[in-house]
Amino acid sequence: MMRSRKLRIALVGGTGNQGPGLALRWALAGHQVLIGSRRAEKAERVARELSDTLRPLRADYEFGHGVNQEVVGEADVVVFTIPFEGLRPTCEALKDRIRPGTVVLSPVAPMKKTKVGLMPDLPPEGSAAELMANLLPQAKVVSAFQTVSASLLRAIPEPIEGDVVVCGDDEGAKELVMELVEDIPNLRPLDGGPLAYSRVLEALTPLLISMGKRIGNPNLGVKFT
Ligand SMILES: NC(=O)c1ccc[n+]([C@@H]2O[C@H](COP(=O)([O-])OP(=O)(O)OC[C@H]3O[C@@H](n4cnc5c(N)ncnc54)[C@H](OP(=O)(O)O)[C@@H]3O)[C@@H](O)[C@H]2O)c1
Repeated sequence: MMRSRKLRIALVGGTGNQGPGLALRWALAGHQVLIGSRRAEKAERVARELSDTLRPLRADYEFGHGVNQEVVGEADVVVFTIPFEGLRPTCEALKDRIRPGTVVLSPVAPMKKTKVGLMPDLPPEGSAAELMANLLPQAKVVSAFQTVSASLLRAIPEPIEGDVVVCGDDEGAKELVMELVEDIPNLRPLDGGPLAYSRVLEALTPLLISMGKRIGNPNLGVKFT
């Protein structure tokens, strides 16, 4: 794929914590970003707020917006920035709207509270990303960003130190997502191999969150040396 290619990126549930940070970063990199929501008014409000946030850095930028069903059909890359609980019904609802060959990115990390602390809660398919690949067979599912803090992503234009492991079964799609990681200064993409390794990746998030609380750093990330 061409490095300089500008993409149309739709964020399903781009109205929460993780979506807006990714939206701001990719807008700064020159991509066209569409904020999706279950409610059109919410998408419009968040898109307006993000355009205002970006104004000091890119005065001319306007985020697109719409209900999830609309925005996914217009995108080269669809990112599911929603909680795991909503993943199955949302994939089922959007299945027919996502065009064949679309790159679908999952930052989803299924977790549950247990007596000893926050733990991974991976589905029988192996991981959230593998569940998505089952539910969206026409898409090229790639897994990444589970270990990147939403707050750091939102802190534009500050760079973010750390590695982002990218897993996927389609090499072209994985390469494209690795380029999207590189678009965010100073994140380093690492090829994590097939989508099945998303099980390991998704399981890191509850560790980072609970360890972050213990050591007083809510924005812990990972770095491989
Ligand atoms: N927060 C982080 O630091 C972080 C870091 C790494 C990975 N992640 C992963 O990124 C994903 C999103 O995290 P988040 O913190 O942004 O989540 P969030 O703020 O709780 O939710 C994001 C958006 O998802 C939509 N949503 C909520 N429940 C839904 C449901 N049942 N069905 C469909 N849509 C629903 C909502 O959008 P509308 O109401 O507008 O539809 C909401 O604004 C999660 O899977 C999480 O594991 C988060």
